[in-house]
Amino acid sequence: MRHFGAAARRGRRAWTALVFAVALSGCFSVGTPEPSGTGVAPGLFPRVAYSGFNPNAQFRALFATSAAEPMWSVSDASIATVVPSKAPAQLKTEGLSFALVTMTRAGETTVVVRSRTDPDAFVTARLVVKAYSDEALALGKARYDTSPGDPARVACASCHAKPEGVDHSPLKMAGFDDATILGVIQEATYPPTPTGQAVASDYAPKGPLSFPGHRWNLTDPEKDGILAHLRSLPLGGL
Ligand code: HEC
Repeated sequence: MRHFGAAARRGRRAWTALVFAVALSGCFSVGTPEPSGTGVAPGLFPRVAYSGFNPNAQFRALFATSAAEPMWSVSDASIATVVPSKAPAQLKTEGLSFALVTMTRAGETTVVVRSRTDPDAFVTARLVVKAYSDEALALGKARYDTSPGDPARVACASCHAKPEGVDHSPLKMAGFDDATILGVIQEATYPPTPTGQAVASDYAPKGPLSFPGHRWNLTDPEKDGILAHLRSLPLGGL
């Protein structure tokens, strides 16, 4: 029993707390719920991830879990693959393990985490994968990169592609649905209560942005296009 010790016990307690917290939330399938007295707030993040699929682009999302010795899988393996990943440099990673999910077709499924220390317990997160056409991707990229001289249609890249530009890759945005992201882009606001969260950070924004001028014009086809572009951006250094 090489792993028997304080660390293993802590891991086991954390996982038990996770299963319990998840049972309380009622959002996940749960294996063996047991109460626990630790104040740990572990989980699987994001709880819902939105992504896309197009055979000529790469759509990926990162998941994080506090489960000890996690084993990852995707319920419908035709929709996405999952592999353990190193931690991205910009995220806090203490006590967390990561996995990179790559979309292989459109559809909806769940990402599942089991723990080697308690194989009967598991948690799931929803994965929603939307099909995007080549045209949508091209339109989104053009809108993102081009400034035609209209102050409401400034190139997104003119701010976001700078080294200090605000991250809006799937690392930060995969946990937010389409309507939330379009609200941020066009109306400079998140919904009044948090509707999503970033991977492995406390970022769960609500209400107006601190930059009230973030009100950019998108045509109807560009809405789909810009979502396709954002959801296919590379994830930080991964
Ligand atoms: C003039 C600079 C500028 C332009 C142009 C711009 N943005 Fe932003 N964007 C920002 C800043 C600054 C923030 C962070 C605002 C805040 O949190 O108050 C942001 C935030 C965001 C976010 C949310 C990220 C987060 O931290 O919550 C998304 C998504 C986004 N922008 C997408 C776009 C898209 C798509 C376009 C083009 C249609 C665009 N932006 C154009 C400066 C810009």
